[in-house]
Amino acid sequence: MHLHKYEKYWLTFGVGSLIVFLLITGIMAFHNGSHPPSAKKTINYEKVDELAPFNNPGVHRVSGKDWDYEVVVIASAFAYIKPVLEVPVGAKVKFIATTKDVVHGFEIAKTNINMMLEPGYVSEFVTTVNKKGDYLIVCNEYCGVGHAQMHSMLKVVD
Ligand code: CUA
Repeated sequence: MHLHKYEKYWLTFGVGSLIVFLLITGIMAFHNGSHPPSAKKTINYEKVDELAPFNNPGVHRVSGKDWDYEVVVIASAFAYIKPVLEVPVGAKVKFIATTKDVVHGFEIAKTNINMMLEPGYVSEFVTTVNKKGDYLIVCNEYCGVGHAQMHSMLKVVD
């Protein structure tokens, strides 16, 4: 009989915890607390390689849009695809990035580009880089043992 009572107690406790958890999750989702403003679209992060535009990463010339180039980037522990990106100086570029595993950063040194990449979300940022040069792209979110080695390069050329 005692066992039965305890079982009931734990069942009630378990259901209660679940409700509290769902409430907290719901409130967090409502406030959109943890998601950066650059991440608006969602994606199945386990299938990133198969889904557009990430099934074709790299730099693409586009037409009929408010920007001239799209730069599609996939981050994963501990590298970016592609490791080198090249865009013409003065071009209006939309960066579209996501992660295949954990949270990574996408910060281009000496520019205003600094995105947080979260699993399940697509981060986007439109900008124009007006100065030629090699710009180091770094991960600024701690993502594991290879974090410090996680980088790539943006080349802004004539
Ligand atoms: Cu990726 Cu730190």
